[in-house]
Amino acid sequence: QEIPTIQIIDAKNYVGQTVKIGAWLRQKRGSGKLAFLQLRDGSAFFQAVVVKADISEALFELAKNLKQETSLYVTGEIHEDARSSFGYEMAVSNIEIIGESHDYPITPKEHGTDFLFDERHLYLRHLKPFATLKIRNTLIAATYEFFNNEGFTKLDSPLLTGSAPEGTTDLFETDYFGEPAFLSQTGQLYAEAGAMAFGKVFTFGPTFRAEKSKTRRHLTEFWMIEPEMAFMHQEESLVIQERYISFLISKVLEKNEQELDILERDKGLLQSYTELPYPRVSYDDAIKLLQDNGFDVEWGVDFGSPEETFLANHFAKPVFIVNFPKAIKAFYMKRHATREDVVVSADLLAPEGYGEIIGGSERDTDYDYLKQRIEEEGLSLEEYGWYLDLRQYGSVPHAGFGLGLERLVTFVTGEEHIREAIPFPRMTNRLRP
Ligand code: 4AD
Ligand code: MG
Repeated sequence: QEIPTIQIIDAKNYVGQTVKIGAWLRQKRGSGKLAFLQLRDGSAFFQAVVVKADISEALFELAKNLKQETSLYVTGEIHEDARSSFGYEMAVSNIEIIGESHDYPITPKEHGTDFLFDERHLYLRHLKPFATLKIRNTLIAATYEFFNNEGFTKLDSPLLTGSAPEGTTDLFETDYFGEPAFLSQTGQLYAEAGAMAFGKVFTFGPTFRAEKSKTRRHLTEFWMIEPEMAFMHQEESLVIQERYISFLISKVLEKNEQELDILERDKGLLQSYTELPYPRVSYDDAIKLLQDNGFDVEWGVDFGSPEETFLANHFAKPVFIVNFPKAIKAFYMKRHATREDVVVSADLLAPEGYGEIIGGSERDTDYDYLKQRIEEEGLSLEEYGWYLDLRQYGSVPHAGFGLGLERLVTFVTGEEHIREAIPFPRMTNRLRP
């Protein structure tokens, strides 16, 4: 009878059977008579037990001398194991070494964060990155599921562009056959063109900002999901935003219980964030609330991290701050119907100090106004001619938003720092590995 080769995650289906698993050795402990091998194969983590009395002397010696991160095939019988959270283990009958490993740098002792990220190509193999990035994967899959269910078309925006819609201060410039080009800060303007062709679209790709601010929320390369909807006003966009966030969190609760446990994330709290609606608070009221609570802020300023943290914690939920001052927002945002000084925008702030996870707005539809705003911002009319075309040929009300994937991952996983939320983070001080 042939021995099946399986993944650790499927061990539950093979209780009492002998199976073969390809795995890496994470850690090992033991005595003179037993060796406990902590294994991982990319699907899950579990323990294989080697009992000296049950196998040959030579095999026990081999097991005892295995080094951290050696790759191997282990063969043995699957048993239930009530003591581990995984619930199953293997009684080993054979081990074949596939690839040796010597002096693996990430030992079971504590290491500093800088060291771990210098070794990120190896650190990915460890428990916490595994759990965090599995949750990231669920959020990506759920994003496609949500927007496909809602009739959106995925529209890919270019990464090399001539424009700088989110401000000219944090651009990465590169040489494009003798002319300057920029790495894209946002796919939004292209999404707007897409919405006029497909009605409802979303872009999803890397975006780049040469942010000099070294905070635990900023990357220089991050992934953004940017839905854009034709014939839609801001209120309807806010409803889509909150339903989307609630859907994503529900999916993680459904699919990543074990990963949330590894990260010790409070599932009850996450569950409470799936309850809708999220509060909507005007920027004006937010300023008043902050002032009443001792913050030294004036109408017109942008919020910093302490202000964002206070506001979302105050409501114990993600909260929309709506209608920001025009002076601190991008040129394309729609003018308010009755006020000169604010625009029809909303930022979604996450509780527990995770900050702004979504920025969005209704878009102004008027050709002359946008032309004037582009000029006021010192942007080149030549670069935005195509964008202005969208207001010349059947302009319609439309709205959209951008969700920063790594901000969301940080929030959902409860990680301290955004660098944990992406496989290979790019920050001011990190370009490698
Ligand atoms: O608020 P932002 O700048 O909005 C836009 O780019 C719009 N064009 C979106 C749209 O309406 N289509 O960025 C959107 C989100 C932020 O809320 C935040 O989650 C994330 O992108 N973000 C960053 N994430 C990590 N590192 C950075 N440096 C980020 N800058 C923005
Ligand atoms: Mg923003």
